[in-house]
Amino acid sequence: MLPGAMVEGAQGAELTGMNEYDRVREAAEFLQARLGGAAPRVGIVLGSGLNAAARAVENAVVVPYREIPHFPQSTVEGHAGQFVAGLLDGAPVVLLQGRVHLYEGYAPHEVVFPVRVQGLLGVRAVVLTNAAGGIAEGLRVGQLALLTDHINLMGSNPLTGLNEPRFATRPGAGLRFFDMTETYSKRLRTLAQAAAREEGFALEEGVYLATPGPSFETPAEIRAFRALGASLVGMSTVPEAIAARHMGLEVLGISCVTNLAAGLGTTPLSHEEVQETGRRVEARFASLLKRLAPRIAALLDAQP
Ligand code: HPA
Repeated sequence: MLPGAMVEGAQGAELTGMNEYDRVREAAEFLQARLGGAAPRVGIVLGSGLNAAARAVENAVVVPYREIPHFPQSTVEGHAGQFVAGLLDGAPVVLLQGRVHLYEGYAPHEVVFPVRVQGLLGVRAVVLTNAAGGIAEGLRVGQLALLTDHINLMGSNPLTGLNEPRFATRPGAGLRFFDMTETYSKRLRTLAQAAAREEGFALEEGVYLATPGPSFETPAEIRAFRALGASLVGMSTVPEAIAARHMGLEVLGISCVTNLAAGLGTTPLSHEEVQETGRRVEARFASLLKRLAPRIAALLDAQP
């Protein structure tokens, strides 16, 4: 049995022909057979241009998404599209190098398919990373920021449809209605702040607002988002955070401020700028993740 599969025999939801849970499980079982070895403790999702962390994985087993049953394919430049398992400074991790987004035409449940696979592989926590536009005053391009909370303006939720309790990985998870008060784990944020300090920099903190994209925002939208309390804006992460919390996984969210949001900077926004900033900070980002992953794994083992 997969380590993350806790609830056996529960009635599943027939979402679309073949049951979604069975599809996720098939992908997870396929990967588990390829990986062998230690059960992963931490899942990581790498955002646009933040690929260096994948190269820091030791004893890496790399599986292209196209080889994994039912796995959605990334169509965005800067998203490699491969699953990487191995060790980050000794901690067993599974890493998604490249994600899929709503703006590519994927349905919300397809967008969260990969993170659900990580959950069924047995991870207890996921680190969701992204490129984001900076809205809050004082945020500078190239800074890294922890998500303290989010605002979902995507107009969709990945849990729409019948509830599927078999996605629960711990008692009390997998509910139809569940609490989102601490979506982004406070204790993991504390660990991340300490790790960043040791790396010689400070992590900003802020509320991430998600839009469906793919167009960047207008300056009027950014003014509105600021009034709503958003510090960061992007087109990802929120569906995965919701699905991860449904499974009972702990979530850490990290944004790389790749640009100032629309109307706040002096140059037009572009995907090239997003990727270029990502490349500039990816080494620092990788060092942070390498320092952080074993601590997250140790904390989860000591205090599940
Ligand atoms: N807006 C939305 N998504 C983004 C941005 C932005 O300014 N930068 C990187 N991803």
